[in-house]
Amino acid sequence: MPDENNPVTRAVDKVIEAVTDHSEKGEIPGRPGVEPPTVEEPTEPRGPLPPKPDQHGPEPFTPTGQPSGETTGTRAQGGSFLTTATGTRVPDTDHSLKAGPRGPVLLRDHHLREKITHFDHERIPERVVHARGAAAHGVFRGYGTASKITKAAFLAKGVETPVFVRFSTVLGSRGSADTVRDTRGFATKFYTSEGVFDLVGNNIPVFFIQDAIKFPDVIHAGKPHPDREIPQAQSAHDTFWDFVSLHTEATHHTMWNMSDRGIPRSYRMMEGFGVHTFRLVADDGQTTLVKFHWKPKAGVHSLVWEEAQIVNGVDPDFHRRDLADAIEAGAHPEWELGVQTFPDTGDQTFEGIDLLDPTKIVPEELAPVQPIGLLTLNANPVDFFAETEQVAFHAGHLVPGIDVTYDPLLAARLFSYLDTQITRLGGPNFDQLPINRPHAPVNDMLRDGMH
Ligand code: HEM
Repeated sequence: MPDENNPVTRAVDKVIEAVTDHSEKGEIPGRPGVEPPTVEEPTEPRGPLPPKPDQHGPEPFTPTGQPSGETTGTRAQGGSFLTTATGTRVPDTDHSLKAGPRGPVLLRDHHLREKITHFDHERIPERVVHARGAAAHGVFRGYGTASKITKAAFLAKGVETPVFVRFSTVLGSRGSADTVRDTRGFATKFYTSEGVFDLVGNNIPVFFIQDAIKFPDVIHAGKPHPDREIPQAQSAHDTFWDFVSLHTEATHHTMWNMSDRGIPRSYRMMEGFGVHTFRLVADDGQTTLVKFHWKPKAGVHSLVWEEAQIVNGVDPDFHRRDLADAIEAGAHPEWELGVQTFPDTGDQTFEGIDLLDPTKIVPEELAPVQPIGLLTLNANPVDFFAETEQVAFHAGHLVPGIDVTYDPLLAARLFSYLDTQITRLGGPNFDQLPINRPHAPVNDMLRDGMH
């Protein structure tokens, strides 16, 4: 016999009462019934709707009122009628095809399946490192001062070359905040008349490790812990400290990271470095070893930790907004490209410094940076995905006159970028994506391929 004073019994009785169907007595107003919906569902085939006056795209202005560089067609429908991806007219994109007023939904509704399928596949994997970034188009103008040591055509006097530059943090995911303490990527794609040259550098002149076989380990140590996936975009946690204390070659890069350089004020106010030593080849075959440097015309500036913390909360997009706003306002950021040059001796050292060791700098007092050209960023991307996300840099994209050395860190980079991009961009044909296409004629022997 149930005990009516027992609180559990009372609670159970209440639940039973609540779920009991009293509909016949009409005791629960608003209870869902089987009435057909009041909205008329399109169950019969019908012709397309006439064009609506609002089917042109929005005016091609950014939220701040500046021209965005888009054509009106970019965000608009391409014609008077909505179509499937294969150009068949679609009369209605708001209701799925149903067998009756309330369903079931029909599998033969091609538009429904196409729309959902495409949505399901909108994402590509983010970069394993440098996932968070912002980019801009620009132009590079050679000074001609490097012409004695390299035959690279784009470095000749007055030659103008289109470029695309992507700045990034290393550790954070795509949606992470900009003003974190981290190394920054500074990757430049030169669309030269002799093919694409990528200078895939950082804002710190040295790297954590000498041998790329440790690259997965240093990145895993700095990335979030695998159990709870925290901390996001932060290197200051146990696994990172374990790595840099146990691999003492990391100390130099860590000192730069923990200095003001670890939190730039703006992408426009960062230096950039090719880090490795490269080999330039002149017309007559003479070779010179060089290190590449980008010097910002706006000077080098940083945020202090407290500023960065506040900015992180107030505007996590601080750096990408700053870059886009500056370019849009006509304050086109500029960098001078320079080289430190060293004789290409057999031992590849300079003043006792191992030029194949990317954890070492050569002080500028010993080898001054000599300017060889000017980079100006003058246009923002119009489509973040098609440009900033799909751009594929590769340390092995070289042009005649610029060659690599036996730096063991660089060696693995030469296959790593191509390898990772096959996963990230889905197949081996990513060089054909508009942002990656060379501006030089292509006549390769490659054929077919998935994507
Ligand atoms: C001097 C050392 C290095 C520098 C300066 C550097 C710089 C960069 C930069 C700037 C990016 C971002 C490119 C972009 O904006 O799309 C990047 C991405 C990447 N780096 Fe490095 N990196 C270095 C070492 C390495 C090493 C040693 C490896 C592996 C062996 C590596 C593997 C990668 C991978 C897999 C990506 C993602 C590329 C993509 O998905 O498109 N990096 N690196």
